[in-house]
Amino acid sequence: MSNAKVALVTGATQGLGLALVEGLARRLGPDGTVYLTGRDAARVAEAVAGLPETGARIRGELYDVAEPASAARLAGLLRERHGGVDIVFGNAVMRVGPDDDSAKVIDEYTEVSNFGTTRLLRAFLPLLRDGGRLLVVASSLGTLHHLAPALHGHFDGLSSLDEVDEQVASWRDAIKDGSARAGAWPMFINIPSKIAQVAAVRVLAEQRRAEDARRGILLAAVCPGMMNTPTSGLWWDVSSAALPADAAVPLLDLATGPFNPAHYGLLLRHGHPVPWSPAA
Ligand SMILES: NC(=O)c1ccc[n+]([C@@H]2O[C@H](COP(=O)([O-])OP(=O)(O)OC[C@H]3O[C@@H](n4cnc5c(N)ncnc54)[C@H](OP(=O)(O)O)[C@@H]3O)[C@@H](O)[C@H]2O)c1
Repeated sequence: MSNAKVALVTGATQGLGLALVEGLARRLGPDGTVYLTGRDAARVAEAVAGLPETGARIRGELYDVAEPASAARLAGLLRERHGGVDIVFGNAVMRVGPDDDSAKVIDEYTEVSNFGTTRLLRAFLPLLRDGGRLLVVASSLGTLHHLAPALHGHFDGLSSLDEVDEQVASWRDAIKDGSARAGAWPMFINIPSKIAQVAAVRVLAEQRRAEDARRGILLAAVCPGMMNTPTSGLWWDVSSAALPADAAVPLLDLATGPFNPAHYGLLLRHGHPVPWSPAA
């Protein structure tokens, strides 16, 4: 049996995803394989061609996370080729700006960040080998601190991914029919979306904690901190924010470093837990 590790990153054609692929390739060394995935075949090929040959083999693969069948299809491919996977980063995000109409973009936004994340968790967690890592790139906005207390029940104490999906669908519909505004939902759709990503990780962590601890598997959400990418540049002056390659370092440490049970099931920023709720 080979010790060669297999990693996969979603939304890896630019920004943080691309930096994670480059860092993983360096850290996994020549025996490893890193899947650089994205929604557009030409952009995937271009991103692979643009990376230096620094270690692991980098393989491009089409994976549109908004497409319902894509997670299961790619998981099947990895199972066939490698028998499993060691590191998965769910990183993709749809680029929206302050001028976008939330009601018009929310369908695609939730397909990418939320239903795309729960599909990724369902497809790839069963494929994780002992010592594996599944890290969902969320944000420090992904906590109940950023939601009106009356809304906490939508994402707190959930017990299945289906429940998370139902809550996301109901919030999405409230954005579309305009009722979200009266219901105190934040108008920055990134906030409930990131909270729902962290909620999905928490739900599964609750179910899998003992078995994952025994197998040294880390499931967590991560915040890369503010980065200088075109996505954040639509909202803020990010000229002095971290470059994706620097923001990737603590995430790569979690992906390739020793298993720390204190990190399990939490949202982590620079390797430290971010509290989920004011009550925590
Ligand atoms: N930037 C920040 O300051 C910041 C802060 C906190 C958290 N984050 C989180 O960090 C992650 C990366 O952000 P970023 O700033 O690096 O974003 P980015 O530069 O805009 O990159 C987003 C990536 O997602 C891909 N993508 C979009 N829709 C997709 C789909 N349907 N299927 C697969 N891939 C898709 C894009 O592909 P294309 O090349 O095809 O467009 C691109 O590769 C996100 O989860 C974001 O929320 C970012």
